[in-house]
Amino acid sequence: MQVNIIDHPLIQHKLTIMRKKETSSADFRKLLEEITMLMGYEATRDLPLEDVEIETPIQKTVGKRLTGKKIAIVPVLRAGFGMVQGLLDLIPSARIGVIGLYRDPETLKPVEYYCKLPNIENRSFIIVDPMLATGGSSVAAIQMLKDRGVKDIRLMCLVAAPEGVDTVNKAHPDVKIYTAAVDECLNEHGYIVPGLGDAGDRIFGTK
Ligand code: URA
Repeated sequence: MQVNIIDHPLIQHKLTIMRKKETSSADFRKLLEEITMLMGYEATRDLPLEDVEIETPIQKTVGKRLTGKKIAIVPVLRAGFGMVQGLLDLIPSARIGVIGLYRDPETLKPVEYYCKLPNIENRSFIIVDPMLATGGSSVAAIQMLKDRGVKDIRLMCLVAAPEGVDTVNKAHPDVKIYTAAVDECLNEHGYIVPGLGDAGDRIFGTK
């Protein structure tokens, strides 16, 4: 199983509060934003740097800056929206794409209903979706980007099921997965166990 579990103590502490059923939507949203920002450090750790000559008030020196590689954040509707602001806090110049998928009630396969992406030239794409459950929608979202020519794709979630990680690994071995936790399993309704329930409902306060 190829997955980067970001187990920083602050992330684990905040995730435990998110899992609690009595945590309010307002707190849930805020914590998701904070965790996403903290995870963003790791998910962008390998971004290339170049030397740049600058002048401090004391003397000339050589500093580092990000090379031309740009970032796009791509939430998968609707829960993925909850992870956008945390990454934007870290990378304010990032562009934002959006992917919409629904599950066909008969085939149970994800069906694309929306895709709007920024220019893909020289850009790394980070797909965000808090719950990596069966992996079906993540596999489809990654494929949607690849079909449009995107080469550098990362997948960031909050909680993953082992089944979902395996499914994404098999379909897209080139895509790095970042998560705060890999839980035990999926239940018969496709929920992650112990998980945190329906992330979309908890973010948007629905149900
Ligand atoms: N989606 C969710 O929101 N929660 C799960 O546990 C699984 C999929």
